[in-house]
Amino acid sequence: MRADPPPHVLEDDIGLRLAGPEDGWRERPDMDVAATRRTRASIVARTRYVEDLVVERGVDQYVVLGAGLDTFAQRRGPELAAERGLRVFEVDQPGPQAWKRQRLERLGFGVPEWLRLVPVDFEGDWWGRLAEAGFDPGRPAVVASTGVTMYLTREANAATFRLVAGLAPGSTLITTFLRPPEDVEPDQRPQLEAAVRGARAAGTPFLSFFRPAEILALAPASRASGRPGTFRRRSWTSGTSGGGRTAYDRPGERS
Ligand SMILES: C[S@@+](CC[C@H](N)C(=O)[O-])C[C@H]1O[C@@H](n2cnc3c(N)ncnc32)[C@H](O)[C@@H]1O
Repeated sequence: MRADPPPHVLEDDIGLRLAGPEDGWRERPDMDVAATRRTRASIVARTRYVEDLVVERGVDQYVVLGAGLDTFAQRRGPELAAERGLRVFEVDQPGPQAWKRQRLERLGFGVPEWLRLVPVDFEGDWWGRLAEAGFDPGRPAVVASTGVTMYLTREANAATFRLVAGLAPGSTLITTFLRPPEDVEPDQRPQLEAAVRGARAAGTPFLSFFRPAEILALAPASRASGRPGTFRRRSWTSGTSGGGRTAYDRPGERS
């Protein structure tokens, strides 16, 4: 059963198999179809936005920071790897990534040559691991960090932005962020506050909230890389869980 009627923004039949939830998961309160409508819209919209961009930009390196159960590699990877030599770098914490690897093996997808699983902790010194996994910082890449900034300290977020700012011309960063609950429209605040409580209860508390101007202000941090770019707010979602998304382009390439 699908929650929403077609046409679908995103077709992903693999994510559920990968997650392999327990029987009766649809009856869980946090899975209520009506109550999760905004969150669902947010997740499928951001995923579709990123995936379209990866295809349109024509890059051969796609870095998924905090990949979680992202299934782009399984859905689109075979075709894009054959067509343009795309490599997908899934960067995530060692524990969740080891679990995902196991699931991929069990479901028969495995980890093909063009999919690189890179276990790191964004709070530490992780950048070198990407190059060790075959990432070429001299070639353009699309880097996505969706649903991740809230779990990191401000320092780790700033460091990540700084590192990405040093990538080759033609590179793009797409990120999402959560606004502080007190800034969110009153009708959306209860949902965001519930998400904050849920994250804390799950042992993965939200550590960082950003106002749109603050995420854009991370751009000056990129100057430390010596290759400054510009952050532009590409679009703004006023709904969902009080988030927004932004794109960063190295100058001199596309706009
Ligand atoms: C909510 S999931 C986002 C999944 C996916 N990117 C999306 O858009 O739905 C957050 C991901 O960030 C990862 N993450 C959280 N803190 C991290 C850290 N300190 N280092 C590396 N990954 C981290 C988690 O393991 C998880 O896979």
